[in-house]
Amino acid sequence: MIIAVDGPAASGKGTIARALARHYGLPHLDTGLLYRAVAAEVLREERDPANEADALAGCSFDDFQLEDPRLKSEEVGKVASVVSAHPLVRKALLLRQKRFAGQPGGAVLDGRDIGTVIAPEADVKIFVKATPMIRAQRRQLEQRKSGIFESLDKVLSDIRARDERDAKRAEAPMRQAADAVLLDTSFLSIEAAVQKAVAIVEAARSRAKAASESE
Ligand code: DC
Repeated sequence: MIIAVDGPAASGKGTIARALARHYGLPHLDTGLLYRAVAAEVLREERDPANEADALAGCSFDDFQLEDPRLKSEEVGKVASVVSAHPLVRKALLLRQKRFAGQPGGAVLDGRDIGTVIAPEADVKIFVKATPMIRAQRRQLEQRKSGIFESLDKVLSDIRARDERDAKRAEAPMRQAADAVLLDTSFLSIEAAVQKAVAIVEAARSRAKAASESE
């Protein structure tokens, strides 16, 4: 079973994808980390993330770099959004993600284009959303835990800028697949959001089972 979880920054998609992977015993790939690893390389080598050739050079990161906790920083996230708009960067990371999705037994992947580009054949597609203000509040809370104190206005404007870049780029923009189920986590606890996600997967499995039995 392939489960595709897409959505904007701080929507809860990563938490939901990890919980689904645990629940169904499936391997999980946070595809945002790949773009973050490219961004970290570009930053380390002091290259220009807006330049496609510079960004492409960052794609030669080693797997162990994916474990670096610094990839989770706000700065790396912002640069990841910039490098991810380049078609050659997306192409360089495509096969790895498709292979992960296609492994025997299936997988859970989360990102922006999983249901539309990486695994359009996914058995279940969930698009996770939450209002920009709620996402900004969550992000601000996370930042405070790691000792970063930014105003809510600043966090909100960063979130809006990232949404705009991720959704408006020409190549594989963030978008809900036509056959994805929308899950709004704005007013849900983590537990309630995960419960809803499991219910979405179970409903899709029942539909698939009924369809195969009627063949
Ligand atoms: O999910 P995240 O915040 O870790 O992602 C960082 C950036 O990477 C995001 O702003 C856009 C890009 N990204 C992408 O273009 N496609 C994906 N499948 C995942 C992330």
